[in-house]
Parts: sequence; structure tokens; C-alpha cells
Amino acid sequence: MSDKPHQRILVTSALPYANGPSHIGRLTGAYLPADIYVRYQRLTGRDVLYICGSDEHGVPITIQAEKEGASPRDLVDRYTKIIQDEFARMGISFDFYSRTSDPVHHETAQGFFLDLEEKGILRRKPEMQWFDEQAGMFLSDRYVEGTCPVCRFTEARGDQCERCGSYLNQMQLIHPRSKVTNTTPVARETTHWYLPLGEFQAELERWIGEKKDWKDNVINYCQGWFRQGLTDRAITRDLEWGVPVPERDRKGRVLEGAAGKVLYVWFEAVLGYISATKAWARHIGQPDRWKDYWLREDTKLVHFIGKDNIVFHAIVFPAITMAYNRGRQNERYVLVSEIPACEFLNLEGEKLSTSRNYAVWVRDYLDAFDPDPLRYALASILPENKDSDFSWRDFQARNNNELADILGNFVNRILTFTRRQFDGKVPAAHKPAGPDREMLDEVRKARTEVGEFIERFRIRDACRRFMDLSRAANKHFNDSEPWKTVKTDRAACEASIHVGLQVVKALAVLMHPFLPFTSEKVWRMLGLPGSVVGQRWSAIGVELLAEGHVLGQPEIVFPKIEDGAIAMQTARLRAVLDTKEAREEPVRTAPLLAAVSIDEFARLDLRTARVLEAEKIKGSDKLLKLQVDLGFEKRQIVSGLAQHYRPEELVGRQVIVVVNLKPARIRGVESQGMLLTVGDDEQLKVLIPEAPVTEGSRVS
Ligand code: 2FM
Ligand code: ZN
Repeated sequence: MSDKPHQRILVTSALPYANGPSHIGRLTGAYLPADIYVRYQRLTGRDVLYICGSDEHGVPITIQAEKEGASPRDLVDRYTKIIQDEFARMGISFDFYSRTSDPVHHETAQGFFLDLEEKGILRRKPEMQWFDEQAGMFLSDRYVEGTCPVCRFTEARGDQCERCGSYLNQMQLIHPRSKVTNTTPVARETTHWYLPLGEFQAELERWIGEKKDWKDNVINYCQGWFRQGLTDRAITRDLEWGVPVPERDRKGRVLEGAAGKVLYVWFEAVLGYISATKAWARHIGQPDRWKDYWLREDTKLVHFIGKDNIVFHAIVFPAITMAYNRGRQNERYVLVSEIPACEFLNLEGEKLSTSRNYAVWVRDYLDAFDPDPLRYALASILPENKDSDFSWRDFQARNNNELADILGNFVNRILTFTRRQFDGKVPAAHKPAGPDREMLDEVRKARTEVGEFIERFRIRDACRRFMDLSRAANKHFNDSEPWKTVKTDRAACEASIHVGLQVVKALAVLMHPFLPFTSEKVWRMLGLPGSVVGQRWSAIGVELLAEGHVLGQPEIVFPKIEDGAIAMQTARLRAVLDTKEAREEPVRTAPLLAAVSIDEFARLDLRTARVLEAEKIKGSDKLLKLQVDLGFEKRQIVSGLAQHYRPEELVGRQVIVVVNLKPARIRGVESQGMLLTVGDDEQLKVLIPEAPVTEGSRVS
């Protein structure tokens, strides 16, 4: 690997908006792969720091607060706790989790803004923006939606199209709609500060040109934006909730027009990585420690994100950093080294949707299952290069057929065998030869390969390779037949069990990035002191269990997951989909007829009548014969209601009848008028007055 062994690595995961609980899509994109990477790096002994925090500003927060009838402050306080708790329960091991509402963040973001403003990099200029006249507000970002000018997606947001990833200026939206009042906004002028991204395009292109091993998705997106040409982007907003634009510069001069404005959430959120590192440094009582990461150019800065955030991490944040570094010899901020952006995770073949509750919520998952099987299932299908799909059946199969039947089974067999046959102590080593030696070689090979895959952000391959080692270990156990050799060749039995136990120890460390809870459990079952955290990756397959070492108590590591537990989960999703499909099914309307004049309409004589009798007409399963009272006379009406009403349901009801239709014979029965109904063959209802009226009243 190109890394120096003790190089500092600063890892960040996208700061999640504190506007709702987490689902598996969120977990998969930016947190699980980052956690696997970080846990591995810690085991290599590198200086790695893992930083995250809540993104607490911007329209995503205010829209949700309005929806929940809460203040933005209460909303972010509540969800920050919830999200942090969910991450902790899933084993996401941040070194520090901060918040963008922390004063240190406000100071940091305002400091960057002022630096760029004072250097004359920012431009302040009037521009047209969408204004909602009914709500009396400019429509920032997600407050306006419309059709994407690039891909024609009809729900593109003011700042970005979620479907094609285009980074939009809201005035480009076709058919804009206010999300606040659902009205069409008008263009109105407002003054904002702009970051002139175009001025940094050449420098950005040069810099990205050197990133030979960046993922294709990141490079392709960037090249697309370069081809379009980067333009000025507004970095302030007319909103109340956010980091206020400073009203004075650092020399005390008034910044005209700043009052009442806040920084654009994406301008400040990316700076949240810096402020969160500062908050961490204060937390550990070494307030300058953050500089060791941010102000050294040999720090390896790694941003784990979802693909919808690429532009902000590959273009906007680097441009802000370049702007800040411009003219500085010292205190230059490091630029990102790696952006392992994930594609999207689908669920049972459908797009995840939080608003429609079509998601697997982390807290619901944890109410039913342990964290490690989900970590493993997701790591095995990470959308590293293209969108992938989570299904409950696949989850069950990965738990039952891989974790339980391969890994768990191997650990359990070898530990219980040792307990029974060797009094729970590691048997003698002998000199490993043949398959025993090959097994130990295989452990060291797996250690190297798993490590290399993780270093290259190929987490799926790493996960598969680690499971392959468990497979090989199971095979070694089977092929060695210790249940036979224990009677026929005790030395051979001791040798193979000794090696098997070394593999268990190796697996305990090797599985740690993927399965941190199980890894500790296996460590305890081996009777080892302390924790897997603090072990060395390089010691895998090298530091061995000593002969005679007393093992702990074996337990089942992965219970099987029953069909019933899976059926409950799929049924819930199915129910959501059924409602969703019902809601989304296009309304089928009959074609419009040619216009009639009011006089033509007036020639129809419509009257209220009360149903006196109703019966089925023999030989027809559709027709009912009704006797109705019009007040001034009684009539017989034939109507096609038999499949929608039982005769007795109609008796006594008031209905509406066309009384001047020429009588007709239907199935040999005379009908002296027509009863008004609404709907079609699938769903037919009798039209009734909203409240009873005198029989024979005219309907107009
Ligand atoms: O997409 C999101 O959830 C954003 N809150 C990510 C922000 S990442 C960083 F810039 F802070
Ligand atoms: Zn689009």
C-alpha cells in the first residue's frame, strides 16, 4: 500500500440532517462503509480520526419542523439524540459526533465567509429568485420544486435534481411550484453573496485530473459539471433558521444587506467537518489537536457520502478550501484525498421513500434483530458501483446460510469439541504440516487480502473474502475429522484443533470491522482478556493462542432467523406498497361529452322519489325492479344495481329519477324513467339528496 504506516487519516461521514430517524439507506451510503474502514484502520495502528455530526440547518429542517408543528430547535434536538442512539446501537464508532448548531461551528463557518469576503473573492449581486406572493417569502432550495431542465423529472428541487444529480439554479426550474402554498411563484429580485465557482474551475480540473484512482461515478459527475461550466452559486439565503451572515467584517465594518440572511446550508455544512474536529479537540482537552488533521497536507482526508452529495464534496468544498488557502503560506487546509461515494440502495426492488414510510427503519430493525446480521447483509450488497437491492429474504439467507451455517457453526463446533475433548484448553501445537500448515497460511493470506480490499474501499469484496476464510476453516475441520482422530490418532487431533482455534482467534479480529459485536463475543468465548479494539491487524495469524490456554464458555453466535420473522417484515412493506399503488393508480375518468346548452339540460325532468319496493328481475344478475313514489304518482323503474345493492338496502331511500324519459322495456319489464347513479361497473352508487326533501322535488 502507498500509505505510510502511521499516516494520519481523517474520515468523515456525511452529516445527516437531523430531521428524521435513520433507515437502512442512510446507513448504507455513508456510515457503515466508513465504520468498517475506520475499524480496520484503527487495528492497523494508524492515526485515524472519525468525525461526524448533525446537519441542523437549512430547508430540510424547517420543512420538517413545519410538518411536525415543532420549532426547528426542538426538532433538531430531538432527532440528533435519536440518530446518535441509532448509530451507537448499530456500532458506528465515531470518535466524535458534533452538531452544526454548536457555537464553534457558527464561528468557523462565519470565519470562512468573512475570509472569502475580505479577500474580495465573494460577489454580492442582485438576482431574480422565485418569490411566493401568498406566503410573502423567497423560496430557497427545497421550498420550490419544478421540472428539471436536464432530465425532465417533475419534482426537482430548487438546488438540485434528485433524479439526475444536476446541481441547479432555481430559476432554471420549468413550471416552478411553491412547496409552501402550492402556488406558482413569481420572479423577484434579491441580493445575495455568490461563490464564483467558475473562477476555480481550472484549478479544480487540474486537481481532480490527478485523482487517478477515484471512483468512476465521482469523476464522471465532476466532468459533467466541468463540461457545463461552473457558475456563480449563491451562498446566502433569505431564511431565519441557519448560521447568520455576519453583519460586520473582522475590522468592524458593516456588511451591507447581511441582516436577516443566513449562510446556505451546504456552504456551512461541509465546514461542519472542520468545526466538528475542533469540537472533538476541545472535548479531549487539547484544543489545537484539530490542526494536526486539517492543517497538514499529508493528512489523508476521506469523505464517505451518498452519490447525491458528490458535487458538494468534490467541487464546492474543495473550491471553498482553495479560496480560503489562496494567498496563504501557512494554515492551509488539506483537500479531500478520497471520496468513496455509494450509489443508492433499493428495497425489495422499489425505491426507498421516507415520506411514504417505504423503508426499513433502524430502530424497528433493532427491535427485532441484532445489529451484526444487518451490518453483514448490507456490507455484502453495498451499492459501491451501481444501485443495489436489499431484500428480507436475502438478509435471512445471509444470516442463516453464511453467518450461522458457516462462521457461527465453525466457531461453535471447534469450541465445543475442545471443551468436551480437551477440557476447554488449547491442545498441543505439534509441528503443523499438510492441511494444518495450509490453513495457517490461508489465514495470513486472508488478512492481507481483506486489508487490501478495505484500503481500496472494496468493502463487498472484503466481506466476501472474510467469509471465504470461514468456509475454508469449516472445510479444514470437516476434512480433519477430529471426531475420528480423537480415537485413532490423538496427536493429529490435537494438531488440527490447535490450528482451528488459531483460526477462531484470527477470525475474531478479522471480523471486527464487519461484525464488531460478534467479534467481542468470540474474543470472550476464547477466554482472552481485554477487547478486540486494541489488537493489531498484523498480528492476525501471527500472535497465537498458547498451548494450555483456558477457553471461555461457548455460545451460539448467530441464531437462525425464522421464516415468520421475515414474513412480518415483508408484510409490512407489502402493505405500504399496496396503499402506495392504490394512491398512485391513475384515476380513470370517462371521456368528456360534447357541450349542451342550459336549455337542453333544462329539458330533462329530474325528480326526487322514494323507493317503496325493490326486487331482482328473474334471469338477470344485474337488474333490479323498483317501485318508487314521486309524491304525485308511483312509477316502476328498472335499474342495473343488482351487483351493488341488495334489494332491501334500497327500500325507503330517497333517489333521483329522470321522469321524462320515454318508457322502455328492459328484459320484458317496463321502465318508466331512469334512476341516477354515479360510478361504473366496478363501483356504482345511487345518487341521493344530501338531506331528505319532499318527494317529487325538481332537481336542477
Ligand atoms: O444529504 C444530507 O443528509 C446532508 N445533510 C449531508 C451533508 S454532508 C456535509 F456536507 F455536511
Ligand atoms: Zn434531473
